[in-house]
Amino acid sequence: MLDSTLTDLEARAPALIRQAASPEALEAARVEILGRKGTLAALGKDMGKLDPRIRADFGKRLNALKRDLEEAYEAKKAGFERAALDARLASEWVDLTLPSPGVRPGKLHPLTQIQRELEEYFTSLGFAIVDGPEVETEWYNFDALNIPSTHPARDAQDTFWLADGNVLRTHTSPVQVRAMEKFGPPLRIIAPGRVFRNEEVDASHEHTFYQLEGMMVDRDVSIAHMLYFMKGLLSAIFQRDVTARLRPGFFPFVEPGFELDIQCLICGGPGCPVCKQSGWVELLPCGLVHPNVLRAGGIDPDQWGGFAFGLGLTRLVMMRYGIDDIRLLAGGDLRFLSQF
Ligand code: DAH
Repeated sequence: MLDSTLTDLEARAPALIRQAASPEALEAARVEILGRKGTLAALGKDMGKLDPRIRADFGKRLNALKRDLEEAYEAKKAGFERAALDARLASEWVDLTLPSPGVRPGKLHPLTQIQRELEEYFTSLGFAIVDGPEVETEWYNFDALNIPSTHPARDAQDTFWLADGNVLRTHTSPVQVRAMEKFGPPLRIIAPGRVFRNEEVDASHEHTFYQLEGMMVDRDVSIAHMLYFMKGLLSAIFQRDVTARLRPGFFPFVEPGFELDIQCLICGGPGCPVCKQSGWVELLPCGLVHPNVLRAGGIDPDQWGGFAFGLGLTRLVMMRYGIDDIRLLAGGDLRFLSQF
């Protein structure tokens, strides 16, 4: 009886182990045959009941079978482990000889590109590039520029007032006064920079945008001089004919004051949200510096005169590249910005 069980096992067990289809099946076979409560262990226990004359022989056969099965088990297990490692190596394989994708080159923001072009144009004409603070005093932002205390720009609806009474500058014009104080006449400066307005944001308005202020103070400066520089500026930037018009404009810090508009390059004239349906874009307000402003800068208006302008840099970028929504410029979306 025990003998036939062992014979049956000798015939069946090696195949059970060698043909296990998976590590799980192999483990199940091991538990069933070689485990502590497995078939071989049971046979070992029952062996005690055998006739001593055949027990020794039975014991040898049992041990031999056990050794064979353990060897087969170890070999099969190693085979599964090798296959698992091969599969992992195949899936994690990296070709170290491939060329690297390289550093992705950065680009200048379109605003910076145009600012630099303008800086080049004006420095070639003897203008210095100067800077002013973005947090400005009420004096420089308003009073020194001849802006009366009743002016609507002083309202909190238009201007970001800080708790200490200073403002986020609403324009780059205060740099005019700082430059006059610092350099004295004669003087040619431009001052590009960021300005802030307490403004509802839409396609053509942002609370933060860029201007480029310009100022020239010298003897006998006239509107003809001013127009010369304004025209040069436009052709340097657009490199083609743009239709411009000059009309009177009021700014407390110039007299006379002008608005230089260009025909909207987004719609070409019929009207769109960027030009507020007018076909024209206010791009370049300018004028002859008001005597009060020269005085505030410590310059005698009887001896010196000058012109000034406040270019809307953000708007200029929109016109040159045909960008119809100002929010795209500050959005930081590289898919958009990398086109320029
Ligand atoms: N500072 C004005 C503004 O932001 C623009 C301006 C107008 C600047 C006329 C000037 C100027 O220098 O002469 O609205």
